[in-house]
Amino acid sequence: MPFKIMPPVGPRKMAGRTLGKAERTAKQGVRWALGHGLPRTAIVRSARKGDLQGDLILSGPGSHTFDLVDLFEEFRARGPLYQGGFSHLAVDHEVIKEVLTSNDFITGFFAPDESGTGLFARAAAWSASDVFAPLQPPSLLATEPPEHTRYRKLVTRVFTVRAVEKLRARTEEIARELLDDLEKEAASGGSVDLVTRYCGLLPITVISEVLGVPVELRERMLELGKGAALSLDIGLEWRTFRDMEASLEEFDHWLRGHLEYLAEHPGDDLLSQLVALRDDGDRLSERELRAVAGLVFAAGFETTVNLIGNGIALLHDNPEQLEKLTAQPDLWSNAADEILRLDPPVLLTGRVARRDSTIAGQEIPRGTIINTVLAAANRDPAVFTDPATFDVTRENARDHLSFSSGRHFCLGAALARMEGEIGLRLLFERFPDLQLLDGRERHPTRILRGYSHLPARLS
Ligand code: HEM
Repeated sequence: MPFKIMPPVGPRKMAGRTLGKAERTAKQGVRWALGHGLPRTAIVRSARKGDLQGDLILSGPGSHTFDLVDLFEEFRARGPLYQGGFSHLAVDHEVIKEVLTSNDFITGFFAPDESGTGLFARAAAWSASDVFAPLQPPSLLATEPPEHTRYRKLVTRVFTVRAVEKLRARTEEIARELLDDLEKEAASGGSVDLVTRYCGLLPITVISEVLGVPVELRERMLELGKGAALSLDIGLEWRTFRDMEASLEEFDHWLRGHLEYLAEHPGDDLLSQLVALRDDGDRLSERELRAVAGLVFAAGFETTVNLIGNGIALLHDNPEQLEKLTAQPDLWSNAADEILRLDPPVLLTGRVARRDSTIAGQEIPRGTIINTVLAAANRDPAVFTDPATFDVTRENARDHLSFSSGRHFCLGAALARMEGEIGLRLLFERFPDLQLLDGRERHPTRILRGYSHLPARLS
C-alpha cells in the first residue's frame, strides 16, 4: 500500500545527491542554532535585563492563556507596541490588524535580507531541509506575493465555502459515530479522555475524508501532529528539536508517497484535484504541492482539536452559559466564536518589517520583528466590553483575531467554525451532565494552545 506510514527514512537526497550522516547532523545543528539556540540565548539575555517577552515566548509547559492574561495586561499598560530586546510585541487589536494587513510587514525571519547575501541568510540557505515544515517556504505561512497569491488561489479554487457547507451533514454524522463509541465506553462507568477520544478524532476524520487521506491512519497522524506542532515554537531544546524534526520527516515521507499514489489513482477528493492542477501547465512544482497539501492537512486538525477542547473546558466551568445554549441552540455558532476569542488555539504570529515604516506612531526600522499576540488582541477592552467575561451572547464575538487577518487569514476558518459548533453542540446534547474530572493537562507547546487531556465522566 503506497500510503502506509514508512519506517524513518535513511540517508536523504538533496539536489540529486545523498547526504551523509555527518552532513545531515551538521545541517540540523545549524537549523537548530538559527531557529532556536540563538533566539533563545537572545531572549533569555534580554529577559535578565527586565524584558517581559521572555515570559511570553519561553513560558514553560503548563502555562496557558489564562496564566498569561496578567502578562498581556502588563504589556498593554506600557503602550500599544512594546519594544523588547529581541522583537517588538503588539497586544492592541487595532495595531495588530494594521501590521497583519500591511504590505510593509511580511512573514519569515530571513526575508528582509532579500539579496540572500547576509551571514544568516547564507547559513539558512545552506542548512535548509527539503522536508515539509509549516513555517518554511514554500509553505503558505512563509511566503508572500507573488508566490503566496498563486498558491492561495489554487487552494481556494478547491477549498470553497460551498465545499465546506457540503461537509456539514457529514461532520454531524462523524460526530455522532464518535459519540456512540463514547457512550458505549461510558456505560462501564469509568472516565474517558475527551481529547483523545473525541476532540482530536472529529477534525482529523473530517479533513482526512476531504483530502482523501486513509482514515485508518488518523491515530498515527495525530501522534505525528503532536510532535510536529512544536515546530511553531521558538527556542526549543536540542533534543526536543530533533524529535520534532523526526516527526516532520516521517510525515513528509508519507506525504510524498501519498501524492505519488494520488497522481496514479486520483479520487474524488481535494488533494487529487490539487495533484491534477500540478499537471495543468506549470502550476505547482512537486515541492510546492507538498507544502500546500501538508499545511492544509496539518492545520486542518492541529488547531481545531484545541477549539473543541478549550470549548468543553469553558462550557463546563461556566454552566450558566451552557444553559443559555440549551435554551437557545441558535447561539452555538456565536459560542464557537466566543470560545475562539477567549481561549484561542493560536497564541501569536509574527511579521518582519521589509522596509522602514511607522506603526502606532513609532518608527519601525527595516528588519524589526513584531510579534502580534492574537490572544491579547481578543481581550482588548477598546473592542470587547468586559473582555475577561465568557459570554456566548456577545454581539461582536466574531471580531476576534484568532484566525489572523489580511493575506494570511486562515483558509480553514469556515470549516473550523463549523466543526467547533457541531462538535460542541452534539457532545453537550448527548451528555448534558458531563463532568470534567481532576487531571486536565495543557499541551507543552506555546504557540498552539489547548488541552492534551480532559478526563471526564459522561453520565
Ligand atoms: C480553530 C481552528 C483554527 C485556528 C485557530 C486557525 C488559525 C490560523 C491562523 C492564526 C492563521 C494565520 C497565521 C498567520 O497570520 O501567520 C492560519 C492560517 C492558515 N490556516 Fe488556520 N486555523 C484553524 C483551522 C484551520 C483549518 C481547519 C484549516 C484547513 C482546512 C486551516 C488551514 C490554514 C491554512 C492553509 C493557513 C495558511 C493561510 C495563508 O498563509 O495564506 N486552518 N490559521
